[in-house]
Amino acid sequence: MVKEYIASNKDRFLAELMEWLRIPSVSADSRNKQDVRKAAEFLVTKLKEAGADKVELCETLGHPIVFAEKTINPSLPTVLVYGHYDVQPPDPLALWNSPPFEPVIKDDKIYARGACDDKGQVYMHIKAFEAMMKLGLLHCNVKFMVEGEEEVGSDNLGIFVKENKAKLKADIILISDTALISLDNPSITTGLRGLSYLEVEVTGPNRDLHSGVYGGAVANPINILCAMIASLQDEDGRITIPGFYDRVAALSSDERAAINKAPFDLKKYKAELGIEDVKGEKGYTTLERTGIRPALDVNGIWGGYTGEGAKTVLPAKASAKISMRLVPDQISTEITELFIKHFESITPKYVKVKVTTHHGGEPAVTPTNSVSYKAAAKAFVEVFGKAPIPTRDGGSIPIVALFKKELGLDTVLMGFGFDSDAIHSPNEHYGVKNFTLGIETIVAFFKNFAG
Ligand code: BES
Ligand code: MN
Ligand code: MN
Repeated sequence: MVKEYIASNKDRFLAELMEWLRIPSVSADSRNKQDVRKAAEFLVTKLKEAGADKVELCETLGHPIVFAEKTINPSLPTVLVYGHYDVQPPDPLALWNSPPFEPVIKDDKIYARGACDDKGQVYMHIKAFEAMMKLGLLHCNVKFMVEGEEEVGSDNLGIFVKENKAKLKADIILISDTALISLDNPSITTGLRGLSYLEVEVTGPNRDLHSGVYGGAVANPINILCAMIASLQDEDGRITIPGFYDRVAALSSDERAAINKAPFDLKKYKAELGIEDVKGEKGYTTLERTGIRPALDVNGIWGGYTGEGAKTVLPAKASAKISMRLVPDQISTEITELFIKHFESITPKYVKVKVTTHHGGEPAVTPTNSVSYKAAAKAFVEVFGKAPIPTRDGGSIPIVALFKKELGLDTVLMGFGFDSDAIHSPNEHYGVKNFTLGIETIVAFFKNFAG
């Protein structure tokens, strides 16, 4: 019944999603403020049309939150669906094969910024809800909370959650904003990494200098910054910040074996990325390195002359943006402090450093023995014909830990993207099949959860 409904409405579903993808809801860019709001308003309309009782656009200090609910019967359990309608900036624009906000379907994939992360995945929930309403299949209550600031740290959502605990009363959180191993190997994400994000600025001389007149005699902030950053990891790929690993939970050999049981083809992985070999912490597999071990990466670095041709200059300043991905039981604020303390301690006297902090978030693990996890696992069996593999994803959704802390609620991370969908990159895409199978699986989840 659901399958037929999806099949006969598929073209409309896709056309609606593409209309939504046309709105450049880039939360990080203040020039897109009105577009972000438009994307929220679009969602309000679609939730109303799909049959929600109450749909609100909740103002925050930043971008609005879309909240909706459908009460079937107050005595029945409630699923709170969370997602985000904001997207990452589309840069670098030149590398897109078609414009990021002019969605196209090619080879059965939708290409656009936000196609997978997370508009495409949120839209599966709206259409699953529509289908359940139309077919009389919704037998529990549902709430939707879709925010516009996930890609910039969810600070205002954190406030909203703390201030609206009664409104958000639910039994379980359901999120589609993570990855599936493949259509042949369905998976449910059971862990996400946390995040600490900082910016460092190294200052040397009081002005840019001629690199011939002064080179070799005055410390170059870029050279120094590079050496400082290089020293943050040792030969074995371990992070050298004192105390960094103190709270990292060691996994039992059974837990590690379970993680490595997931199908993973290292050769294919390297080929897909065009790399000769992988690199990471000694003693861990690639799946462990992204799933259960922390990481430190420079996300951007600049200084000096980067224009056309060559300018001989010894720059006064150099900067970098650095992220640390965290695992249980590391605490984001604590790691940030450890970083600052260490970075200052390794600063040579020739330069000064300034560290500023950006958003962070805590890691999360979700239970696999709950009623809701079992409902999700059964849904995958029904739709994909295979039991889902539990996986630990390397990305972060900071609000998941906050849902647990503030609302006492566990989350089911039922994502349908692929790691190869190029989220945050040029040519982001989402499989039409992932989209339709996702809708089907979500409907199956609701059926199993309510039953
Ligand atoms: N949906 C992603 C997180 C994700 C991607 C989880 C793939 C699992 C698999 C989310 O939108 C995201 O990009 N989060 C940011 C963190 C945020 C604080 C900016 C991230 O992980 O960089
Ligand atoms: Mn996302
Ligand atoms: Mn994202």
